Amino acid sequence: IFKYSMMALLGITGYFTYITYLELHPKRQLPQSTTFKDGSPRKRLVILGTGWGAVSLLKKLDTTEYNVVVVSPRNYFLFTPLLTSTPVGTIDLKSIMEPIRHILKRKKGEVVYLEANATDIDPKNKHIKIVDNYKETRTLNYDYLVMCVGAESTTFHIPGVRENAIFIKEAYDSTRMKEKIFNNLERAAFLDIDDPKRKHLLTFVVVGGGPTGVEMAAELQDYVNESLCKWMPEISKDIQVKLVEGLPNILNMFDKNLIEYTQDFIKKSKIDLKLNTFVKGVDSDIITVEVNKEKQEIPYGVLVWATGIQPRDITRNLAQILSDVQTDRRGLLINEKLQLLGAESSIFAIGDCTFHGGLAPTAQVAYQEGLYLANIFKQLHKLDQLDWKSQLSSISERQLNDIKKQQEYIVKNKMPNFKYVYKGTLAYIGSERAIAELKIAGKDYQLRGSPFAFLFWKIVYLSMCVSIRNTLMVSMDWCKFYFFGRNSI
Ligand code: FAD
Ligand code: NAI
Repeated sequence: IFKYSMMALLGITGYFTYITYLELHPKRQLPQSTTFKDGSPRKRLVILGTGWGAVSLLKKLDTTEYNVVVVSPRNYFLFTPLLTSTPVGTIDLKSIMEPIRHILKRKKGEVVYLEANATDIDPKNKHIKIVDNYKETRTLNYDYLVMCVGAESTTFHIPGVRENAIFIKEAYDSTRMKEKIFNNLERAAFLDIDDPKRKHLLTFVVVGGGPTGVEMAAELQDYVNESLCKWMPEISKDIQVKLVEGLPNILNMFDKNLIEYTQDFIKKSKIDLKLNTFVKGVDSDIITVEVNKEKQEIPYGVLVWATGIQPRDITRNLAQILSDVQTDRRGLLINEKLQLLGAESSIFAIGDCTFHGGLAPTAQVAYQEGLYLANIFKQLHKLDQLDWKSQLSSISERQLNDIKKQQEYIVKNKMPNFKYVYKGTLAYIGSERAIAELKIAGKDYQLRGSPFAFLFWKIVYLSMCVSIRNTLMVSMDWCKFYFFGRNSI
């Protein structure tokens, strides 16, 4: 046993050393060029975004076949499933951020990254306008464009939300929330113990009982129960975490059993769960809610807003241009090959910016769509090469027929429709407990509350990290948490 364990250990260490070496020493890349060696044109593929959809596409895409340009205001990938662990220091924010250039430098063909927002798309002339952080603008032509710009947090136009609440969607949201929480803790500690302002500052309200809201409320309550009760015992007693949901239950995408289990669990963990409570307005320190058609007020010190998502401006603009066919306000409409309706030959769209076949806006969907598109681009490259050959003056009738047959074969056999494979849903519910709905070999399974469910949750998220660096950093953060507690600065 000892011999085999040592061999396994050596094997694993060797494997990780090799992968780490590859990550740190990217190979020389094939530079971009206007033509290939045979004189055929090399097409430009512009990818908008550096999130789940874009990164999965980029990981599998053969970047030697296109001149790939990535445009995104974010020069890193953000591992959103662990974002709610970062404001309270369970995980360090940097551990779930992967610089996009680390990913791009590992590709065989050079990929250009431009830190900018795409602001206008002209599908007819195939160009986009991009604007960087310093308001410099540029126009980029494209042969193919992939929209993976995600979505933004929605407020349902409820007054006061954008001004007063903190979302939990981007890295800067986490930093803002951390700052707000720490400021409120110190401000409360400064006040007399019977000062009413103290309780006010220490009321943390999370609006939205979807998975984001539930995981955020769970992390906040964990922070109070496990960390603050040791560092600031007097303060921790006065902290109240409230989870406000407009519908009769939370986590609507889960099975009824899991919903009931989670609601009971949350109540026991001291989170004040307010169901059937619809937020109508937000002030600088009070939210107005409607409960059974009656108006009530809930004072707050920190307000976290997690009521779902809505399309970004760039998505809405593009839908407006193609308004004949883009008729859904929830996102861009695409076909089974993920081509944008109205611009099928040149624009593809994946992830949260789309509304497609009732698929939920999840990382799981965006990731699978990205992988699928990488194959589509491989086939499109072959089709384009054949197309170029067919236009050569030296081509004979027989060769032309041959090319047509090859093209038909590729379209029929190598470009199947996208098929989403649902693998399950996980959610952290606090106190080292998780719930999971899994689909394995066509059968449904549920996990709820057991330490195994939590371990499973951790293993799944580690396996989903996009780089070995992220996997190691998140693992180290979890170890640090067990030995030294949360990061309190
Ligand atoms: P994103 O990942 O949001 O990426 C969009 C990219 O586009 C970003 O890089 C952005 O900077 C860029 N961009 C924005 N505007 C422009 C522009 N104008 N021009 C160019 N680029 C632009 N899903 C799960 O499946 N499991 C989970 O556990 C899970 N947990 C989550 C936890 C939280 C807190 C959140 C917020 C979401 C979670 N999700 C989870 C959902 C998941 O994150 C999204 O479904 C996923 O990120 C969608 O991928 P995307 O590529 O479409 O968009
Ligand atoms: P969501 O849309 O899933 O949930 C939002 C919740 O807010 C709903 O329950 C809604 O009823 C409630 N709400 C809306 N307006 C309200 C108001 N004015 N007052 C009170 N309650 C109100 O949004 P969420 O959680 O941000 O998730 C977005 C997407 O990301 C989903 O598709 C989700 O599946 C995915 N996600 C998945 C996770 C996971 O699998 N663990 C974790 C986080 C997000």
